[in-house]
Amino acid sequence: MMYSEKVLDHFSNPRNVGEIEDADGIGEIGNAKCGDIMKMYLKIDDGIITDAKFKTFGCGAAVATSSMATELIKGKSIDDALKLTNDAVVEALDGLPAVKIHCSVLAEQAVRSALSDYYAKQGIDPLPIVGEIKMPEE
Ligand code: FES
Repeated sequence: MMYSEKVLDHFSNPRNVGEIEDADGIGEIGNAKCGDIMKMYLKIDDGIITDAKFKTFGCGAAVATSSMATELIKGKSIDDALKLTNDAVVEALDGLPAVKIHCSVLAEQAVRSALSDYYAKQGIDPLPIVGEIKMPEE
């Protein structure tokens, strides 16, 4: 199995690891099959994601994709973060082996789960905005 330089870099030197104590949105997502868990913390100011941190208890690809996902959404609007797909994360990492693509879905859904929490905390129903959070299965 071959990993790109970028994947190895984000795995061995992940960006934005940790928690945000006064986070405006916290998401958690797990993959039932591999048992990996990702937690995502967002700070949101005026519709802009001013900070993002994560904790991943999972495989190397899960660590690398969550690291890249936080980098991609920091400084962006909620709308842009909602458009972040796992494909975009994989592309930013110069690819992932096919058997590891599902790990990037965890990163995509962790962001959406944190945004759902953000809306719920404001008393806004997240479903019409964020949609259903998918638990990756494989
Ligand atoms: Fe579980 Fe990668 S093997 S997220």
